[in-house]
Amino acid sequence: MPKTIVNARVTFRKSPIHVMEQFTFHNVDSAMSSFCNHAELDECVIVQTCNRVEVYGAADTFNEEKIRRTWASLAGLDRDAFKGNIEVSKSTDALNHLLRVATGLDSMVVGEEQVLGQVRSSITDARKCGTSGESLNTLFDRAVRVGARVRHATGMNKGGISVGSMAVKLAEDAHGRTLEGQEILLIGTGELSTLVAKSLKHHGYPFSVASRTLHRADAFCSSNGGEPVKFESILDDFGAYSVIFVATTAPYFMVTAEKVASSRRRDSTMIIDLSNPRTVEESVSGIEGVRLVNLDEIAGIVERNVKERESKVEDAERMLTDELPVLEASIKRLEAEPIVAGVFRHADEVRRRELAKAMEILGDVDEKTARTLADLTRSIMEEIVAGPIEHLRHASEQGDDSTLKAAQRLFGPPAD
Ligand SMILES: NC(=O)c1ccc[n+]([C@@H]2O[C@H](COP(=O)([O-])OP(=O)(O)OC[C@H]3O[C@@H](n4cnc5c(N)ncnc54)[C@H](OP(=O)(O)O)[C@@H]3O)[C@@H](O)[C@H]2O)c1
Repeated sequence: MPKTIVNARVTFRKSPIHVMEQFTFHNVDSAMSSFCNHAELDECVIVQTCNRVEVYGAADTFNEEKIRRTWASLAGLDRDAFKGNIEVSKSTDALNHLLRVATGLDSMVVGEEQVLGQVRSSITDARKCGTSGESLNTLFDRAVRVGARVRHATGMNKGGISVGSMAVKLAEDAHGRTLEGQEILLIGTGELSTLVAKSLKHHGYPFSVASRTLHRADAFCSSNGGEPVKFESILDDFGAYSVIFVATTAPYFMVTAEKVASSRRRDSTMIIDLSNPRTVEESVSGIEGVRLVNLDEIAGIVERNVKERESKVEDAERMLTDELPVLEASIKRLEAEPIVAGVFRHADEVRRRELAKAMEILGDVDEKTARTLADLTRSIMEEIVAGPIEHLRHASEQGDDSTLKAAQRLFGPPAD
């Protein structure tokens, strides 16, 4: 029997973020080892992101109760905490779930890019940790390939879906597709500013960050990039910047037409007000050379992009329907591989033995003849075993245990 693949998960679908956080593992490497040691899993991979905590396991048989108990003990939870939060899938359903995760079909926003990288790094971590083996390596490697292919083929990953990265993209488009050479200012150090900063950093653009306290701007920059600047100094000197992102919850107009006009020393300035309610005075847009973009405009583009992605879901689902049986077959085929290796080894041993005898009889032969004989025997041997090997792999895919057992008896190690 091939190993059963199991997936136990707590995700945003059943649990709000603050509840989901209780199920996270503080040390993922040691958690994967604990599942192998205490939950009777032969292999384990954990995928943990801000929207999901998922345990994937491979075992001859699996014990759901032990998985829950190990999880509860690692996260310091009562077992009752799982009620209504955990979902468990196995075999085909578990494979299908991972394909959906990798493709971004199970994400809050369809086609979300990050999760594919997170699935990829989860299997890399498990390999390093030694908790994944043939089954989960095959499953994850294939899921990552399928995830990338489906996104690319359907175009489901196209179009920005984060207000932060979309704001940066709009600014780029307005400056000939790059912000290189622009003086960029980000006002705010909250959640949305973090997204803007990430996008700026990702593109390698230098930027300044202002917050009401320099200390907060400092802390923000040390984790998100950027150079902290004094809040008071920027309020009277907006003219020093050509691109200004504003993302604060200030209950007043922080950027006024008067201040912008009085500090103008550039031909063009773009101000992107991401705040709601607005913190940039609308009349700023009346100043020559100043372009004001507000949240409604950006949110509108993001919404159109999300709808565009959602229109690709059906195509992606269709592709996964075709991919699932191929993935299932490759997992099932793994069972035949040790037997296939045995058949091959046995045949090759016979070939080498007989070849050695023939060489001895022939005595001194030149290098060309020796190579020809070796190649000849190898191709005869490969031709002979190709058919049976194909049958074995097919039997494995079909779950034909009796054929596999017979082959195991014939070509496996001798019974005691
Ligand atoms: N989060 C999102 O995904 C999202 C999406 C769309 C729109 N928005 C809008 O973006 C704005 C920021 O949201 P957020 O989620 O980043 O909020 P947040 O995490 O609560 O951060 C608020 C920011 O506003 C600053 N701030 C608060 N009061 C201020 C004042 N009186 N003067 C100057 N700065 C002040 C804070 O600066 P200090 O560090 O100085 O305290 C902090 O940097 C909001 O208007 C929100 O509606 C957010």
